Amino acid sequence: MLKLISIVESLGVPVFMVFMEEQEKYIQALIKLHRGLERQGPGDINYSNYILSQISDLPTNPRIADIGCGAGAGALFLADRFKSKVRAVDFSREFLDELEDRAKQRGLEHLIETIECDMGSLDWEPESIDLLWSEGAAYNLTFKGALKAWRPLMAANGIAVISEMNYFTSEVPEPVRVYMQNAYPTIGTESENAGHVNSSGFEILGIHRLPSKAWWDNYYGPLRENMNSLKHSKESIMQSVINETEEEMKLFEEHEKYYGYSFYIMKAV
Ligand SMILES: C[S@@+](CC[C@H](N)C(=O)[O-])C[C@H]1O[C@@H](n2cnc3c(N)ncnc32)[C@H](O)[C@@H]1O
Repeated sequence: MLKLISIVESLGVPVFMVFMEEQEKYIQALIKLHRGLERQGPGDINYSNYILSQISDLPTNPRIADIGCGAGAGALFLADRFKSKVRAVDFSREFLDELEDRAKQRGLEHLIETIECDMGSLDWEPESIDLLWSEGAAYNLTFKGALKAWRPLMAANGIAVISEMNYFTSEVPEPVRVYMQNAYPTIGTESENAGHVNSSGFEILGIHRLPSKAWWDNYYGPLRENMNSLKHSKESIMQSVINETEEEMKLFEEHEKYYGYSFYIMKAV
């Protein structure tokens, strides 16, 4: 999913208009590649449980949002755990349909409200969310941009949990830096991101690194199976998406100690 941001960021108007059709095809190929997967990014249910165990100040029936929910691994986990309603936001109808099917299969449909919209334009009532959850999706607005866009939604003392891909060190190997310049130019270190948190009306309660095993077991592993079944596709755009995903995986395999996802647990202050 990483390359998508580079395309979106590198295209300006009017070039954007010219390439819009290509971009739309790219997004559709990306969605097709991720179809049927439980997750569209790295994560792990046991690790999510661990993250929740670090939070003590939530109301019994929190008002929850999962932003950039994809097919809803996070939304379903939260609905089940809190038996509370979850607003699940994504701009892909296809992923939201998968989430609705899964919610039905698990008897959780009464707790899931799917909302097809842009995560950067949520016109919800201010201060209406007690627990904001977003895994692997904030980068679409940049981490700083997501904090700014979502802070007004937070209830007093509300908790936000955002998993963000970041550097684990300021000494980043050249191949990683070069790749990120294209894929995610605004990627920061944990301490840079902590600075954004502190200047955005949040207080950091903790920063926790998602183990790399969760990338392989729950995301890249299943994704590779989809790649294998689509590798003979006649669509050239699908071939590009598969090649770029291979490149992304190889980079992570070789350099996983330098970057990855960190969960930021934050309290609205
Ligand atoms: C890497 S996936 C993570 C999905 C899910 N949270 C998970 O961990 O499985 C990022 C998700 O953000 C969604 N997305 C990207 N840009 C968006 C936007 N501007 N508004 C709403 N959703 C967006 C994508 O459709 C995708 O489902």
